[in-house]
Amino acid sequence: MKKIIIGNFKMNTVPSEFKPYAMTLATKIKGTKNEVVICPPFTHLSMAREILSGTQVLYGAQNLAEEERGEFTGEISASMLKDLGTSYVIVGHSERRGKFKETDKVVNKKIKTALANGIKVVLCVGENLQTKTSKQANAFVRKQLEEALRGLFENELESVVVAYEPIWASGTGKAISNKDIVKMVETIRNFVGELYSEKAGKNLNVLYGGSVSLSNYKKIMSIDCIDGVVIGGASLDVDNFALICKEKY
Ligand code: 13P
Repeated sequence: MKKIIIGNFKMNTVPSEFKPYAMTLATKIKGTKNEVVICPPFTHLSMAREILSGTQVLYGAQNLAEEERGEFTGEISASMLKDLGTSYVIVGHSERRGKFKETDKVVNKKIKTALANGIKVVLCVGENLQTKTSKQANAFVRKQLEEALRGLFENELESVVVAYEPIWASGTGKAISNKDIVKMVETIRNFVGELYSEKAGKNLNVLYGGSVSLSNYKKIMSIDCIDGVVIGGASLDVDNFALICKEKY
């Protein structure tokens, strides 16, 4: 089965390191049936266009401005990303929600801006440990989805991939159990089913992210109801990442 595999570099690597990485990845994954996307920092994207155009590696951004243009010093707009051939953009990552105080309203606006410019969205949702231990995770994620998808039409969901990234599993080296992944992915599909239609819930692309690595990806990918994974730290090693991307699932 074809899976979507997204590498989120976060604020790691410098542009000069990116060229050999991108060339190696494109060569190593040639022929894969999976959809492979890397999301390096903004500063690498024009190089990504040069190196990756015509290869099987797609590239995306880790963020975008909610506004289209104007007096927003330091911001990067959707049309700038589109002009660089960017296929995807990550929106609502827990690090942006937590460290940069991005609200659900901002997330919603960013999604609309991206879609209006023909860029697919990786919408991140997920609870922290406190929310999980107080058994509020389902309600929390449902609320995040409801706010993020507000005003979107059902056909636009084709361009939205939902990534379930429990904050308590990110960067710990320990992914959560398959049972916990399945439970939340079902909650997400059911809720989108309630918001739109059963078909929309079933067809939605849902990924898992949080400490996916060479040692656990096979176990995680064996879950039928997920369409793929988002990989942070382990995507920085091109040989390991290529192995995960090349695998037949
Ligand atoms: P790690 O794979 O480093 O845990 O990061 C997960 C993540 O935040 C992906 O977006």
